Parts: sequence; C-alpha cells; structure tokens
Amino acid sequence: MNIGIDQISFYTSQYFLDLRTLAEARGVDPDKYVIGIGQSKMGIPPPDEDVVTMAASAAFQLKEQGALDGVEALLFATESGIDQSKAAGMFVHGLLGLPERCRVVELKQACYSATAALRMAMGLVAMRPQSKVLVIAADIARYELGSPGESTQGCGAVAFTISADPRLIVIDPESGFYADDVMDFWRPNYLSEAQVDGKYSTLVYIKALKAAWTQYAEESGRSLDDFARFCYHIPFTRMAAKAHQKLARGISDEELENVIGESLIYSREAGNCYTASLYVGIVSLLDHCAEDLSGKRIGLYSYGSGCVGEFFSGVVQPGYHDVLLTNEHQKLLNERMELTFQQYEDIYHYGIPTDGGEHVFPQYRTGPFRFAGIERHKRIYEEA
Ligand code: HMG
Repeated sequence: MNIGIDQISFYTSQYFLDLRTLAEARGVDPDKYVIGIGQSKMGIPPPDEDVVTMAASAAFQLKEQGALDGVEALLFATESGIDQSKAAGMFVHGLLGLPERCRVVELKQACYSATAALRMAMGLVAMRPQSKVLVIAADIARYELGSPGESTQGCGAVAFTISADPRLIVIDPESGFYADDVMDFWRPNYLSEAQVDGKYSTLVYIKALKAAWTQYAEESGRSLDDFARFCYHIPFTRMAAKAHQKLARGISDEELENVIGESLIYSREAGNCYTASLYVGIVSLLDHCAEDLSGKRIGLYSYGSGCVGEFFSGVVQPGYHDVLLTNEHQKLLNERMELTFQQYEDIYHYGIPTDGGEHVFPQYRTGPFRFAGIERHKRIYEEA
C-alpha cells in the first residue's frame, strides 16, 4: 500500500525582521547573516500569535480544501509547548472544529518530532487505510538577544495530511536513523530561550546525517544519483548547503543550487521553524521547482538536537501541482509587515503574564485565529 503526504500547507507570522536591520543594530557585517548564515529575514510572532494559532492557521488552509475530511488523529509536533499537561493540539482541535472521534497528542524531540509524527501517522493509516492523520509541526525559534543564535530565530507551522494513495508524495519504506544523548541544544522548562553549543550543534547535525545516510544507502541500495532533489532540516540555509556538501563531496556550486536551492527559499524568509523546518523545505521545493518532479525521488533529512537524525525519501506523485497551495503561501510572505529593530525588541520582551489574573493581549495582524489573552492561567483563543 502506498502511504504518504496527501496535502501540505505552510504558515508563518505576519511580521518579520530583516537580518540587515539586526546586523546594523548588533554592529555585525550584514554579509555574515545574509551570506555566511544564509538568511534574509526572520519571522517574529506578535504577542497574540503562538504555536497554536500558527498551527491552526496552517491547518485551516487544508480544511478549506476539504483535506481534513476523514481525519482520525491530530499529531502535533512542537518544542515550544504552552502547557505541561494539555496538548497544544487540543486547542487546534477546538479551533478547527475537528470531529470528536479524533486522537490528539503532542510529540517532542527537538526539531525531529514532526518526522516521528509522520512515521506514527503512516502506521495508523496502514492499520486503517480509509482514515487520514493530520500532522502539524509548529515552533518559535528564540535565542538570547545578542547571542550568536539570534540571527537564526524564526517561526512557522506546516500542516500535512497522511493518507493511503496520497496526491503529493509517497514515502518510501526504507529509512536510516540515529540517536545519541548529547547536549548540543536544549531548553529547560524554566527558560523561554534555547541554550545552544552552536558550533558543536553543527558538528552533531553532520555526524547524525552521515550515520543516517550510510544506513539508508545500505538498506535501499540507492546512491545520491537516485534523487532529483534533497530537502534538509534547515536551522539556517547555509547549514543545509554544508550538509549536502558533506554527502556529495566535490559537488559544484551550480549543482548544489540545482539540488537544494528551491527547498531553501521559504526558510531564508521565515527563519528556523524547528520541527517544521524540513517540511517548510518540502513545501518550498514543490512550490518553486520549475522541473516536473512527477515520479521523481527526493531525499529527506530530519534532525533534532539532543539528538535524533533520520534520512528517508519519497516519490513525488503525478498531478501534484493540482494540490499545491503556492498562491496562498506566496501571498502570505509578500504581505508580511516589516518590524523596526525597536518593535522587534519590544515584542521580544512582551512576556506572557504568570500571575493568574485576567489579561487581554493587544491585537496585531494574525491569520484566522489569535491568542486573545489569559485568564486564571487558561489561554483564550478566538477567531481574528
Ligand atoms: P557564529 O559562531 O557567530 O558564526 O554563529 P560564525 O562566526 O561561525 O560565522 C558563520 C558563517 O559566516 C561562517 O561561515 C563565517 O565564515 C561566515 P563558515 O565558516 O561556517 O562557512 N562569515 C561571513 N560570510 C560573509 N561575510 C562576512 C562573514 N563573517 C562571517 N562578513 C552559529 C553561527 C551556527 C554557531 C549560530 O548561529 C548558532 O548558535 N545558531 C543556533 C544553533 C544552530 O542553528 N545550529 C544548527 C545545527 S543544530 C540544529 O539544526 C537543531 C536546531 O534546529 C534545534 C532543534 O533541533 O530543535 C537548532
């Protein structure tokens, strides 16, 4: 039975900070961010946008297409959790009006958990081929102000449905995966900024990639030549480029651009979306690739610090263009509002009140849903 991604949509905040603005404020050469890190802008969520509203906004686009009919589970991957007990997906379930007969759960393993969700979703569909599973990955990448990680912040959500005979990508059964208990990146429950051993994290990312790829290649008998394109986990676009250069030693700049270039376009604009990043890369590839990818195989690398890496693959399905939401994605990115540096810092410092009182949040521009306030420690969401 063929199982895979039936439809996919992407959402990011309506606000961004240009990395040249950040560079100027921090006294850094802008080329370091734009060329060295490979990022142009970073999505910044206003106080009334969080992982729930971004996730619901991404999935809402699928709902409007009728793609959520038959969904029996919602698997929500995030490392920006908003509650220690209640799954963020429960709020999304309510906002989208999903059926009562629906399993809802939140998954965590840094940026890797969306791929764990995809694997679990495939298992559920294999058992009940008439059903669908909605997977949502949503995150806000946040580091300390003035730290090396600051230029690699961002935010976004990707929602996709897993079904039998999918219209977009059939996921291959072969896979290589690798785990190692390391401290390259983490965020204790009492901190709202990630802690990171930056250089070390890039080394572990590559180590996990090599191990996962070696295992995948052995199991599948495939070589790099069997792939039309590659999508990587994208903490910043230069990381994905370096990763591919490690696998395809001696690759020319032109060929590198050819095999990964289209997958990096949205991430360069939105920044790191943690769990969603690989899937932002897939959306970006499908939305931008001028070549017809029908019947072509793409290589996929998922990485989550801490760490788990997985190399897997999928075959793009004939007719995939008909189900893409390219116009919606491009409209969203084109209509975003640019923040000044002062506005960015003000939003950064806007903390969620923890006193249990009644708080109404200022209204910014969001997607169809907003995080309206907090009352007796309960988060309140509403239609925007
Ligand atoms: P840094 O140490 O300040 O940067 O921060 P740098 O000095 O290494 O410079 C970066 C690149 O810019 C270098 O290129 C410089 O040469 C170049 P490279 O040598 O690497 O090829 N450069 C310039 N280029 C052009 N013009 C210039 C110029 N100046 C310098 N004027 C670091 C880099 C990645 C450490 C930092 O951004 C960071 O800590 N980021 C956060 C951690 C991260 O993203 N790690 C990635 C791997 S781990 C991962 O992907 C998991 C993650 O998504 C989390 C999760 O799983 O949940 C993060």
